Amino acid sequence: MGKKLTKQIHINEASQYVDQEVVIGVWLADKRSSGKISFLQLRDGTAFFQGVVVKNSVSDQIWEIAKSVHQESSMYVTGVIHEDSRSHFGYEIEISDIELISQSEGYPITPKEHGIEFLLDNRHLWLRSRRPFAIMKIRNEMIRATYEFFNKEGFIKMDSPILTGSAPEGTTELFHIDYFDSDAYLSQSGQLYQEAGAEAFGKVFSFGPAFRAEKSKSRRHLTEFWMIEPEMAFMHQDESLAIQEHYIAFLVQSVLDNCAYELKILERDTDQLKKYTKLPFPRISYDEAVELLQKGGHDFKWGEDFGSPDETFISEQFDQPVFIMNYPKTIKPFYMKEDPKRDDVYLCADLLAPEGYGEIIGGSERETDYEILKQRIVDAGLSLDEYQWYLDLRKYGSVPHSGFGLGLERAITWICKLDHLREAIPFPRMITRIKP
Ligand code: 4AD
Repeated sequence: MGKKLTKQIHINEASQYVDQEVVIGVWLADKRSSGKISFLQLRDGTAFFQGVVVKNSVSDQIWEIAKSVHQESSMYVTGVIHEDSRSHFGYEIEISDIELISQSEGYPITPKEHGIEFLLDNRHLWLRSRRPFAIMKIRNEMIRATYEFFNKEGFIKMDSPILTGSAPEGTTELFHIDYFDSDAYLSQSGQLYQEAGAEAFGKVFSFGPAFRAEKSKSRRHLTEFWMIEPEMAFMHQDESLAIQEHYIAFLVQSVLDNCAYELKILERDTDQLKKYTKLPFPRISYDEAVELLQKGGHDFKWGEDFGSPDETFISEQFDQPVFIMNYPKTIKPFYMKEDPKRDDVYLCADLLAPEGYGEIIGGSERETDYEILKQRIVDAGLSLDEYQWYLDLRKYGSVPHSGFGLGLERAITWICKLDHLREAIPFPRMITRIKP
């Protein structure tokens, strides 16, 4: 075939090659025939589009291949690109030649509806379908935009360890591992290390996996998820909130700017998304959130932590992301700074996503006083030996500092408007799922 003479392109470059002959390496996503025309739905990892094979325009051999090729077979197709205003992609290829690379037999994920467990069992293949394709591309864009945002704001990326001896978010949800002759855990948050980074580099962020042995089967919990954790020296909580809302608006705007095709596949309402780029986001106190719940008929007492239904209710009262500030000390971790005006709450905030999605960010100003922090560590039942290095940060040049953690899958679930976190990560890990 004329592959060497004809330019090989990717589907997402089709608009630059209208009326030209090109070669594309593709997989067959789906197929439909109407007598003398075969419509091949093709994908190459950059997009999906249609290939048209007309019986009278190709050799018998190519027509036979077009008729007999199975779903997910791989091949090179040669043809001319045309505009196709009826399709959602906008272009198609009129195929003149097909070189079959590998015929696929009995692909399990057919165009009919499948149950979620079946799809998750076949996640290694399901990733090829349109919906996971769109979600993973948006995930990728959010990661790219994260690096752009924090680089532009003068942060440096500093990696936190995954194997660790510390338990910043409490000891109940730790994955324990044998580490030679001692104990270690899989990291549940890189925050404490980022605090060391902030005193070394001023503004730092990490992006890495976090592990929590959550017994919860909720749609908002994974046992392995990815977190972005910025930490800023010489910064108080209100300035941290400003960074958080600018970051979220930047993420949404980047997805709007660079993922129009993917948002269309997901049928996401982009006018709705645009509203989330308007700043500032509303801020209410924990006390006010409790009042909202009580007025809404929820049986909720001051001092309790919000469950998923509570967060859903609160976030539905706002049409933008909303900060809930100053939670009771009893329900938050030991490292937060007490509100100077009240001794029962911390200078902290969670950001709840709109449309009922609940918490996507948790953050706070950090306690800077050596003695107070030391006492908190003891009160939390943690070992002073294990945290001496962390206390050192308050001994040598302690400064006001604040930080936060964004759960990437929570943010994706909201921006893509998904029902469950499991679709927001390539290979989800939950209590009952460790494979594939
Ligand atoms: O509120 P969290 O527990 O905060 C921390 O870990 C802090 N150390 C962060 C910091 O200040 N550097 O978790 C932060 C975010 C949550 O808002 C949520 O988005 C996400 O992490 N998250 C989870 N995502 C998926 N599955 C889980 N089990 C999650 N637990 C928390």
